[in-house]
Amino acid sequence: MTRILRIDPEQPDPAAIAEAAARIRLGQLVAFAAETVYGLGADATSAEAVAGIFAAKGRPAFNPLIVHAVDVAMARGCVAGWPGAADRLAGAFWPGPLTLVLPRSGMIPDIVTAGRETVGVRVPATAVALWLIDVAERPIAAPSANRSTGVSPTLAAHVADDLGGAVDLILDSGPTAIGLESTVLDLTTRVPRILRPGPITAQEIGSVLKRRVRHGPEPADRSDQSHASPGQMAVHYAPRTPAVRVEDPATLGAFPWPRRAAVLSFGERLASPPPWVLSYHMASPEGAARNLYRLLRECDAAGLDLIVVVPPPDLPRWRAIRDRLRRATRGPG
Ligand code: TXA
Ligand code: MG
Repeated sequence: MTRILRIDPEQPDPAAIAEAAARIRLGQLVAFAAETVYGLGADATSAEAVAGIFAAKGRPAFNPLIVHAVDVAMARGCVAGWPGAADRLAGAFWPGPLTLVLPRSGMIPDIVTAGRETVGVRVPATAVALWLIDVAERPIAAPSANRSTGVSPTLAAHVADDLGGAVDLILDSGPTAIGLESTVLDLTTRVPRILRPGPITAQEIGSVLKRRVRHGPEPADRSDQSHASPGQMAVHYAPRTPAVRVEDPATLGAFPWPRRAAVLSFGERLASPPPWVLSYHMASPEGAARNLYRLLRECDAAGLDLIVVVPPPDLPRWRAIRDRLRRATRGPG
């Protein structure tokens, strides 16, 4: 049985937080809103509790989880070392959508890190998440609260649709503010590397660190999908409806449209979207982040035959959106 509690995002009801925290301490699963997407939380210090996350999501055991801390002091307890770069980035971006991959401490069980010697940690930026971690008095491991490889949830109803019955409590505080998962930054390599592009860009990180930041795992790790950041598996964040990518909108006129289709466009508005298909336009990266996952889920619910995605231009500010669109669709590479 899944219990769903409405909770005010600005002033969370202490009784609801107390119940959620008690459930975390008992080893149960509690879904809550981060500023990015809804997370499926469990006590990060309990291997047994965390096993429940993998079971509920159908997540492969090789894909590690992000650990959420209430502040830098708790985050430092999860890692074996705290370099100056981590301190500067935490100062600039926490609480916020930046996950730092660092050598892990003995406090974090193997199952959380999928057996690696590193752990991803961050301090999320919602009152609900921070209070929950604080009252539970322990870090909370939380992946996005969707079925593995599916679309991340930005509403509590998405969590209930995907995981209803498998999660003990859902704290429903409304839509998430950002709508896209955190940036994952590896600080264990010689040059810091962005393993998953997200709301905090390479440029923003680079200007805090006053050094260059690279995209993607170390070249040596690229051949091994299970190694550097499994969230970067080719098929991920995908709707159930077949979805294709069309880079050149000029070719849409000649496109073999099925009867029930939608076109999602980004950046420039399409000159003439075919009048008989559903058409959604997202003009800015922020607007796209807030709406993309909800729209993909609505397309699934509408029983469409096809989703056609016309991606935004290949510019730094669109990088995270382009990354998710590439993983959600089939396309020319
Ligand atoms: O915004 C977010 O990050 C959300 C909210 C709930 O915080 N969480 C989230 O978790 O998106 P998840 O599990 O869906 O994605 C975690 C990503 C995956 O790509 C995973 O491979 C990567 O972080 N990751 C976690 N620990 C890692 C580690 N030690 N080394 C490399 N990548 C890691
Ligand atoms: Mg996920």
